[in-house]
Amino acid sequence: MKEELIKEFKQRYNKNPGYLFFCPGRVNLIGEHIDYNGGRVLPCAISRGIGLAAAKNNDGLLRFAGINFPETAEIPLSTAYSKTGKEWFNYPLGVFNELLKSKELPGGLDLLYLGDLPVAAGLSSSAAIEVLTAWTLSGIFDLGLERIAVALMAKKVENEFIGVNSGIMDQFAVAMGKKDQAILLDCDTLEYEYIPFRTGNYQLVIINSNKQRALAESKYNERFSECRQALKMLQAELDILNLCDIDLATFEKNKQLITDPTLQKRALHVVSENARVKDAVIALQTGDMEVFGKLMYASHQSLKELYEVSGKELDTIVEFCSRYRGCIGGRMTGAGFGGCAIALVQKQQVGDFTSKLEEY
Ligand code: GLA
Repeated sequence: MKEELIKEFKQRYNKNPGYLFFCPGRVNLIGEHIDYNGGRVLPCAISRGIGLAAAKNNDGLLRFAGINFPETAEIPLSTAYSKTGKEWFNYPLGVFNELLKSKELPGGLDLLYLGDLPVAAGLSSSAAIEVLTAWTLSGIFDLGLERIAVALMAKKVENEFIGVNSGIMDQFAVAMGKKDQAILLDCDTLEYEYIPFRTGNYQLVIINSNKQRALAESKYNERFSECRQALKMLQAELDILNLCDIDLATFEKNKQLITDPTLQKRALHVVSENARVKDAVIALQTGDMEVFGKLMYASHQSLKELYEVSGKELDTIVEFCSRYRGCIGGRMTGAGFGGCAIALVQKQQVGDFTSKLEEY
């Protein structure tokens, strides 16, 4: 990736890049639609990601180009920006906009992005672009931003500039990810712990459904507000700040407070998924991958039936997983509505699993 980035950068901008940075994508092992409900999630950075080559220019311009994207942009330096259209460069532009609130940029920048992450596939390509841009700017302009500050800034961009009410999981995972480690993150307090991702005889397989989705146009924000409504109803009796502040028993005792059946289903997903994360961490720590796999299937079922964010393609993949003997767990990962699924497959059977799945 590095060589290709440098070569393309030279061709496009007629000079060498002064800076090269990389940010990984992520999968979420379990804990879906939990982050904006203040619970715990278990994402893991992956080896695929997005690289960025950059150089300063004296033209007073921000030039955005991406090897994977046809659109380019040349935007004059300004004191603030707003989102225009749906093009990919709105993600880095949002980061510039955020940064400009506290810092004046001394000059223009030429930027070139290259990723081996499928775009809009639920592997956090947008969080990776945001985090990568913020990290690069911090490096170039000596801003000294820490990784968690970068993740928080990137989340702000996603929420305020892009308009998606996402939680902190993706930005945190790609900014803080480490090889072979999952991150157990408390999305309310931002306390976190690395959990070694040891899968024994199994391998984690990432499966792209090839159904793209853009969060801004999906029902993501609808789910966010449904959770807020459910929370509000529970707050009539319970002293809680987040849906994840209650356990299943408390939910069962109080669920009649949520008078709308759809909202009740959404809340049940959140509370039960949050409990599954706890169990999944214990399973991982004790090396019980069978239990981990069962929790993955249960998570998918809940996302399909209660939270209604799966879809035909993802359900078909997970159905295949459950029928395949060497596969002990499968679920959609990320926001849903398309994108990727993950599966735990016996190491020696990954090749066979893949070819049979392609035929399915
Ligand atoms: C997207 C969002 C995350 C999280 C997941 C669902 O990836 O960006 O904040 O809410 O969906 O778990």
